Amino acid sequence: MEREDIIEEILRLKEERNAVIMAHNYQLPEVQDVADFLGDSLELARKAVNVDADVIVFAGVDFMAETAKILNPEKKVLLPTRRATCAMANMLTVEHILEAKKKYPEAPVVLYVNSSAEAKAYADVTVTSANAVKVVQNLDSDVVIFGPDKNLGHYVAKMTGKRIVVVPPNGHCYVHAKFTLEDVERARGLHPKAKLMVHPECEPQVQEKADIIVSTGGMIRKACEHDEWVVFTEREMVYRLQRLYPNKKFYPAREDATCIGMKAITLRHVYESLRDMKYEITVREEIAERARRAIERMLEMS
Ligand code: 13P
Ligand code: SF4
Repeated sequence: MEREDIIEEILRLKEERNAVIMAHNYQLPEVQDVADFLGDSLELARKAVNVDADVIVFAGVDFMAETAKILNPEKKVLLPTRRATCAMANMLTVEHILEAKKKYPEAPVVLYVNSSAEAKAYADVTVTSANAVKVVQNLDSDVVIFGPDKNLGHYVAKMTGKRIVVVPPNGHCYVHAKFTLEDVERARGLHPKAKLMVHPECEPQVQEKADIIVSTGGMIRKACEHDEWVVFTEREMVYRLQRLYPNKKFYPAREDATCIGMKAITLRHVYESLRDMKYEITVREEIAERARRAIERMLEMS
């Protein structure tokens, strides 16, 4: 099938199934182009609450589709391929949380949405990179158990002055861990007029050199403030920004900053997902109910 035919079929099937396509900002351009709604993980979670459709095709990684399902138990949520998973979310187990809880029984458990539904069931509240500082600031505790990203944890500790106990201690995203001080120097040398927008999953020494530290949604909101940017996050963010601001310049800090899980979804997968109604996301109700409380608390607090 030609690309145009696949797109036509996607549009037809969307209507037939009463479906919407939600996609994360890191998706391949061909997938971004057919999405009804694009966003960062907070925006996608918010949108999932109000979406008026029977089926959500979620072009993102599995924890994002799970979050949509938890918030919409009566809707069918489809992940176009089972290979779309988040390596960082997979680092955190329930045992990590329970062990930290033994040491700090009074500390609230704050989990990055980049975590499994099982882990979220043990969280007091979830956060995304867009609201982590605000949520932790508003918690009535100076010590917080936080997982699984040590770099976002570092950023939250710096901004709130609270003690952040990270679980697991080395939790990180391999895509953002690639960025180094050499990348910062190269960016400054090649693009002296550009400012650096840095995702808080980057390492602390890279965060320190940033002009702004923001979620992917924050990058979109802040891009209007300057004409040239070097982007320290997953490579496809540049496509998203360039489409929104055709008169500005955006450079990826590294061409090889690609998330394998996000890139596992192609246009053909989106079509096959709608055609065959696969792969359906399910979350056991007792897990979903507890995870939902933590996600809804985040939505109320941010
Ligand atoms: P955002 O919440 O900024 O979209 O980030 C999600 C993510 O997985 C970053 O790697
Ligand atoms: Fe997970 Fe990193 Fe991919 Fe984001 S970029 S989905 S944190 S592996």
